[in-house]
Amino acid sequence: MKFFVDTADTAEIRELAETGLLDGVTTNPSLIHKAGRDFLEVTKEIAGLVPGPVSAEVVALDHKEMMREAEVLRKIADNVCIKVPLTLDGLKTCKALTEDGTMVNVTLCFSANQALLAAKAGATFISPFVGRHDDNGFDGMELIRDIRLIYDNYAYDTQILVASIRHSVHVLESAKIGADVATMPPAVIKGLVKHVLTDKGIEGFLADWAKTGQSIG
Ligand code: G3P
Repeated sequence: MKFFVDTADTAEIRELAETGLLDGVTTNPSLIHKAGRDFLEVTKEIAGLVPGPVSAEVVALDHKEMMREAEVLRKIADNVCIKVPLTLDGLKTCKALTEDGTMVNVTLCFSANQALLAAKAGATFISPFVGRHDDNGFDGMELIRDIRLIYDNYAYDTQILVASIRHSVHVLESAKIGADVATMPPAVIKGLVKHVLTDKGIEGFLADWAKTGQSIG
């Protein structure tokens, strides 16, 4: 399973990239606003921090303008993945860009039928938003299960990129279902390593080790 971080905070991205566990980055206009940086400049910097895909989102709503924005964004670096919304214009843009060899992430997916359309449009990634789905009284994980089933039925190679992840159970369930990618806020990635018994175990081992009076090397 690939791990992407969902942020435009370059300090956080750098720290996680150094662990060797990070496969890519996703951003969106809200995260760019939060970072308070110039969009093109910060995207270029992020693309230099990770070898994998860096999603950068268009903000136009019509196909022609989306294509123009995508042209600007894809020139930033080879690992920039163009993020388009799940609308007819977004799907048309997805089709045009992927046919041209550009990676595309179709975002704001809230139904399995929308995911089916994205696969038909040749999307590299589909981004179902599980957290926002749950927030509105739906079952986000049921959506991931349905998309996995449909993609496997027809051998679509569009990768399921679980987005809007709020906690470690979302990651666990996504992995059990066989989602291809999880994009997570930095705190969720860092939280995956934590277990009270690991901490307690280290404490116990170190206490006993100190009693031996030895050192390594
Ligand atoms: O980047 C898309 C998605 O991960 C946004 O998540 O927390 O704003 O619902 P959230």
